[in-house]
Amino acid sequence: PVHLYGQSCEMDEIVSIAKEHKLKIIEDAAQAIGTQYKDGRCAGTIGDIGCFSFFPSKNLGCYGDGGLTVTNNPELAERLKIMRVHGGKPKYYHKVIGGNFRLDALQAAVLNVKLPYLNSWSAQRRKNAELYNKLFIETGLTAGVGGTEFNDENKVLLPKAVYRGFSETANNYHIYNQYTIRVQQRDELRKYLSEKEIGNEIYYPVPFHLQECFSNLNYKQGDFPNAEEACATSLALPIFPELKEEQIKYVVDTIRDFINK
Ligand SMILES: Cc1ncc(COP(=O)(O)O)c(C=O)c1O
Repeated sequence: PVHLYGQSCEMDEIVSIAKEHKLKIIEDAAQAIGTQYKDGRCAGTIGDIGCFSFFPSKNLGCYGDGGLTVTNNPELAERLKIMRVHGGKPKYYHKVIGGNFRLDALQAAVLNVKLPYLNSWSAQRRKNAELYNKLFIETGLTAGVGGTEFNDENKVLLPKAVYRGFSETANNYHIYNQYTIRVQQRDELRKYLSEKEIGNEIYYPVPFHLQECFSNLNYKQGDFPNAEEACATSLALPIFPELKEEQIKYVVDTIRDFINK
């Protein structure tokens, strides 16, 4: 499972499928560091191995490349540690094929300083998202969060925080690595926002089945219409913790002006 945008996948179902078929679960929590599932457990700690990224665009970013894997299984932990150092243990006696996957000490030093702020940054991202939701609803361009169909009441579809309110203690139900809206004139809007110097990004422009590297699987346009529509309409807006209220208002006003034009 990939815990996309900052909230958790539906892990109960995934765990039950994995149990039935005796599969291991490797969670991609690159965009979900600290995210809590509906029962309070953190994304990345529910399956057999959890993977995190410290790439600068992540909620906890270092100054280059970095990442982390976690596991509760001592055998997997040992194997991961060996793979991290070219597969050798002791040094130069190679048990498995590994690579250089060490976290650079300089990156670790940066992360050490930033880590204590992570929760407050995620809370600020949530606050920003709440303000976006409120302002978008006030524009009349959307009836509320979580819409899935475009119509006259829903020209902008807002992201829903799926596990919000499931548990009193699970405040990190969404850490908003991305705040992604959907609009039908996405590419034109994107151009307009860029002209107004509003940062934006498409996560992701091409679905898996149409990626060139999978062309040997012979999928074609139309095979996965929901994925294709998501790729054609999704647009991520600025959500970083330091955003100011007036900047969020400027983004929403700019989108309103574009759509009502
Ligand atoms: C969901 C997801 N998985 C994996 C990765 C890869 O992380 P890294 O570049 O640190 O290997 C990223 C980051 O781009 C990501 O967003």
